[in-house]
Amino acid sequence: MKIVKVADYEEMSRVAAELLAEQVKQKPDSVLGLATGGTPVRMYQELVELHQKEGIDFSEVKTFNLDEYYGLDKNNEQSYAYYMWDNLFSHINIKEENTHIPNGKAKDISTECASYERAIREAGGVDLQILGIGANGHIGFNEPDDNFEAVTHLVELEESTIEANARFFESIEEVPTKAISMGIKTILNAEKIILLANGESKAKALQEMISGKITPEVPASILQLHKDLTIVIDQEAGSCL
Ligand code: GLP
Repeated sequence: MKIVKVADYEEMSRVAAELLAEQVKQKPDSVLGLATGGTPVRMYQELVELHQKEGIDFSEVKTFNLDEYYGLDKNNEQSYAYYMWDNLFSHINIKEENTHIPNGKAKDISTECASYERAIREAGGVDLQILGIGANGHIGFNEPDDNFEAVTHLVELEESTIEANARFFESIEEVPTKAISMGIKTILNAEKIILLANGESKAKALQEMISGKITPEVPASILQLHKDLTIVIDQEAGSCL
């Protein structure tokens, strides 16, 4: 595991965008695993700038997002599909058919999850996966005590996750209680992983993830076993290390 300590959110975002851009330059048909939430917002803005200024070409890139709220349509402003188009896809030259996000409105969840896994496999697997981390140590929406062997599946969100994400909704009652998420096994299959964290609310989870024991109670701790993991953290997030 490689730990890159940076000063603040701005630097974390710049470093991460440059790593992503480098991946696309090296392999123009890269398969990228993408994350949502507050953490990567600025990274996506930096990536859009790199596309505009340096001509980073996304025309052959394929993307798979980590997760989507169950029950939200892709046109719902709180959906992760909407987030991705708003923050990134609309501003770069990616083909719509090359972008993949679980369908939160799927009628048959197990078919949706199985076909998402199949699509990742058929694309050749994820070359570079971007991750954030929940304050409770979750990655994607894999909550504590979720199964390390799980692939894409429907998850029940923890109360603390619902509370943490309520800031993006009008009220906490609007936050979905379930989500479709890549499983830990899906995430670990990525060739390379970059995990981003900023702010002191992530400090404890990061400490447990990096130097604690590997346990489903801290889902991110399993990343200790990944062969190519880079963690980019700001000073506050790294304050307990
Ligand atoms: C959310 C997402 C994760 C994200 C994490 C942290 O619930 N499902 O993919 O990494 O929690 O979110 P944030 O970046 O807003 O702190």
